Order: sequence, then structure tokens, then C-alpha cells
Amino acid sequence: MEQILQFIEENKARYIEELKSLLAIPSISTNPDYKPDIERCAQWVADHLTTIGMNNTKILPTAGHPVVYAEWLEAPGKPTVLIYGHYDVQPVDPIHLWTSPPFEATIRGENLYARGSADDKGQVFIHLKSIEAYMKKMGNLPINLKMIIEGEEEIGSEHLSTFLKEHKELLKADLVVISDTSMFARDVPSVCYGLRGLAYMQIDLIGPNKDLHSGSFGGSVHNPIQALTEIIAQLHDKNGRITISGFYNDVLPLTKKERDAYRKLPWSDKKYAKELGVTQLHGEKGFTTLERLWARPTLECNGIYGGFTGEGAKTVLPAKASAKISMRLVPNQKSDKIAKLFEKHIKKITPKTVHVNVSYIHGGEAAITPIDSPGVQAAVAALEKGFGKKPLYQREGGSIPIVVQFKQLLGLDTVLLGFGLPDENAHAPDEFLNLGNFYGGIRTVAHFYNELPYFVKNGKRK
Ligand code: BES
Ligand code: ZN
Repeated sequence: MEQILQFIEENKARYIEELKSLLAIPSISTNPDYKPDIERCAQWVADHLTTIGMNNTKILPTAGHPVVYAEWLEAPGKPTVLIYGHYDVQPVDPIHLWTSPPFEATIRGENLYARGSADDKGQVFIHLKSIEAYMKKMGNLPINLKMIIEGEEEIGSEHLSTFLKEHKELLKADLVVISDTSMFARDVPSVCYGLRGLAYMQIDLIGPNKDLHSGSFGGSVHNPIQALTEIIAQLHDKNGRITISGFYNDVLPLTKKERDAYRKLPWSDKKYAKELGVTQLHGEKGFTTLERLWARPTLECNGIYGGFTGEGAKTVLPAKASAKISMRLVPNQKSDKIAKLFEKHIKKITPKTVHVNVSYIHGGEAAITPIDSPGVQAAVAALEKGFGKKPLYQREGGSIPIVVQFKQLLGLDTVLLGFGLPDENAHAPDEFLNLGNFYGGIRTVAHFYNELPYFVKNGKRK
């Protein structure tokens, strides 16, 4: 290990330069204009995997964006880890709020700022550099590795489950490792054991058959923006509960053990509110902030549009108004079922004055991973070595829909070994990767590869 860690120490500057070139590719999956960049990015990842010594690197097509595959299987008798990550990123708007251009990675203070720096290119790169260190210093790895780095995570991994079904044999492994979550706080490493699911919806309301002069027509027809906001305002009650009938039916309640464990975590509502610049927190009554974030379902309006939003004023009564609404789901809720309940409810409460169209954009299920598995125990040991601190256990409010599919389709448990930070601005302007976490991540992953065979063979270390 000494040699590996020394190699990592000596190569820090080069890592940053290499990561910058990966971050320079605008691989925005949701926008078809960026298809060539998606392909260029897949190629970059594939080339880099080959350069660091992975074998059988391939860019495998799907009905959407391609998946990059690579393997190293020369450690007979040792466990096989399937590493999953994603090379696609979220859009960058509003672009004017970025301090430096999103695809020109820039160091300020102890952070590297760029779209995808934390979510997830930087975290994928952590694995690549650990692998490289072993290959360069030892000429081999302590475990067998397979990797799939996909290009559609940020748009719901639509084609990945078919991919898993089609490549069952190729993807055989003992466990999955994903680095695409955050640590609990700066200098507080953690293992994540739960993610929320998601149902992403769109509501389109259509009023009159064309835009109207708001003076000539205002007062005679229901403005679709007005109708839409009336609908949205009804989706929560005064206790912050979602009003869709049947919405909570399948929710797995928090156990006393979990609630007690959350209360022991180093958390302050006051500090959190201050950091976010809000005078007061808001959410479902009867639950703490961490419970609301990790183990309770929510409904958020992600965007609302219609009418005139440009500079100045225009007196218009618009023909249409739309909203994007997503619901975060918790264990036992099913995204397809929730999407149906949502549609039914919206249709029920839409006034007769407008037409409504409800569409289901994408969805995924919540996941809970077992924390007593050898993989998680190896991760705990590795984090302690990599960061010099015992990690704590946490859940996350975000979603990685493929985690459940790994279990259902391939029978594999996932270890969520994340190196982001809660304030990393993922999906927002000025996304960053903390450099301490980047290097700590590379060390941790190196320890993880080294520790895993022991834990798989012997169970918990005393
Ligand atoms: N890295 C995130 C998942 C995540 C977010 C984990 C926050 C922990 C905390 C991932 O890239 C992501 O953003 N996923 C999407 C999934 C969705 C598009 C299906 C999400 O959570 O919005
Ligand atoms: Zn991500």
C-alpha cells in the first residue's frame, strides 16, 4: 500500500490536468444537440480505461447514449467488483451564474469548479486513478474489476435496464460499487445505504386556442397560468403532506432504530438554514430534516412556464401553461403507480375551464442496501484509512435508479462510496469537487480494492 499511496501523492498535479480534459467535454445527455459530445466523451473514457491498463474496453451501443465497458479479470479466486458511474452531465443553465465557464475546469481555493466535477466525472475518475496506481506500481489489481460508465443517468437511465438484461453474462460480479453520492459533510466521510426513487411528471394546461390580448379578453376566460398555480397550490396540505389520494399507502415507515440513529448525527437545522440563506426550514410536519430528506417522499415543482417572461412588459393572456413536477419516493412506493395516481389526481382537480395533459417523463425506485455486507464493511475500513476518520452511515435524498435494477436483474448489492459534498452545487451553477475529497477518494478506493478480499473471505474484521 505504501508504494501505491506514494504514487498517488506524487501524481496529484497530473490527475488534475487529466480530469480537466474530461470535464471539458460538454456531455449533456438531455439535449440532442450535444450527441457528438456524448460520443466524444464515451470515447475519452474508453481511451483512458485502455491507457490505465484495463482490458477489453468497448463502447457498447444502447437505444440511447452508449455505455463504456472495460474489465480486468486477472485475479483468480478474488472477488469481482462491478463499478458503475456516469459520464453524462446536467445542463448548465443559468449560465450567467457561473463564476468560471462550466466546461473550463478552474481551481479556486480548495475546489475544482466545472459541470460534472462531482456528479459524476470526478468520482468516476477517482476509480480510474486508483486502478492506474496499482497497474503502474504492481502491474496488477488485488481484485477483479468490471466497469460500466453510462451516458443517460441524468435522464433516468432509460436504456440501462435493457442493457443489463442483454449483458447479464458479461456483467457477472460479486457486488456493485458506485461513487456518485456525497459525504455527510466536509471531513465527515460516510457510507450511504439508501437513495430515494423518483417520478418525474409534466402538466400542460391549454386554455384559449391562441394567445389573447389581456385587456380585450381578460375577465372572460380562465388564464391557464392561474389555473396551473391553483392546481399546484393544492398538491400539499397545511402540514406539508402531499394530497394525492393513495400517495402514502405503500410508504415504508421509519423504524425507531433509524430515527434514533439519525438523531445522533452531527446535524444543526440552524446552521443548515443559514447556509441555504433561508430564514426558516419547511417540510412535512412530524419529521426531522434528515428524516424528510432521506426517508419521506416529497413533491417539488421543478419549473413552471407560460406566457411572457422576457424583458419589459407584454399584456398577454397566454394560451398555455406548463409545469415540471417531480416526486421523490421512498422504499416500497412504486414510481409507475405513483405516476398514475398523480395523473388521476391532476385530472380530478383541473377546472373545467382548461384542457389538461399529464405526461410521465421518467421514474425510478428507491433503494436500501444492506450495511452488514462485506462490501460495506470493506468500504468502512477503507474510508477510515483514506480520510483518517471513522465514517458514519447515512441515506441520501437523491436517486440512482439503476441500484434497484442491479439487485433485481443481476442479484447484486451495491456499495455507495461517495466523495461529493452536500454543498457541491450538483445540477446548479458553480458545481465543484473538493480536492481534499478527490485525493482522499483515490486513497480510499485504493484501500477498498485492497481490503475487499479480506472482508469477502472472513466477514467483519474484529
Ligand atoms: N449523483 C446524483 C444522485 C445523488 C444526488 C445522490 C444527490 C446523492 C445525493 C445523480 O447523478 C442524480 O442526480 N440523479 C438524478 C436521477 C434522476 C434523473 C432519475 C436525481 O437524483 O435527480
Ligand atoms: Zn450523478
